[in-house]
Amino acid sequence: MKIVTKRLILRDLKKTDAKDIQINANNLNVSRFLAVVPFPYTLKNADSFIKHCITESKNKPRVNYALGIELNNEKRIIGMISITKIDKFNGTATMGYWIGEKYWRNGYGSESLKAIIEFFFKKLKLRRIDISAASENEASNSLIKKMGFIYEGLRIKNSRAKSTGELHDINSYGMLKENWKG
Ligand SMILES: CC(C)(COP(=O)(O)OP(=O)(O)OC[C@H]1O[C@@H](n2cnc3c(N)ncnc32)[C@H](O)[C@@H]1OP(=O)(O)O)[C@@H](O)C(=O)NCCC(=O)NCCS
Repeated sequence: MKIVTKRLILRDLKKTDAKDIQINANNLNVSRFLAVVPFPYTLKNADSFIKHCITESKNKPRVNYALGIELNNEKRIIGMISITKIDKFNGTATMGYWIGEKYWRNGYGSESLKAIIEFFFKKLKLRRIDISAASENEASNSLIKKMGFIYEGLRIKNSRAKSTGELHDINSYGMLKENWKG
């Protein structure tokens, strides 16, 4: 499974991606607001995460897509983007992402999100994306709004970050297929 954009390839992970995942995820600036990424992030964490993703990718029907973001000109994984909790009957799923700090503010977040939204509506034929970000997470809230998601409300102390144990208020957003400006 592969989505190709101008500068990136969004693809299923391979065992050999472990080092790149570990280097980029082992950073509190990346994991501070994430629910499932521990800190410190070891090679063992990366190995078991990849193993889990490979197993999940074989499920039929597939309910999760955890895709590595490969930078074309470096041929390495610089982050992750995912569609999880796919509910075919309801037409819904959730999205999440992170990118290594070294690669921020180059438009890679926007480029990956745009491509996966298109995959979501056109290929998976789902009708509504759920996405959320901790209220303090300026970068992610800006990216989400830039992509055209609609703010739907605040969930107080809804999520505990795995890396710090801290509770965060969560901004919830949604995008309906009919509002997608693809
Ligand atoms: C959120 C994240 C993926 C953005 O990735 P990115 O590749 O830097 O994003 P882009 O370069 O495409 O920027 C897209 C927009 O997001 C906003 N943005 C990105 N970083 C920002 C920052 N540090 N402060 C404020 N706004 C920011 C801007 O609006 C930007 O658009 P612009 O460049 O036209 O002004 C990245 O900061 C990240 O991985 N953060 C840590 C993990 C995380 O929080 N994940 C989301 C959990 S909900």
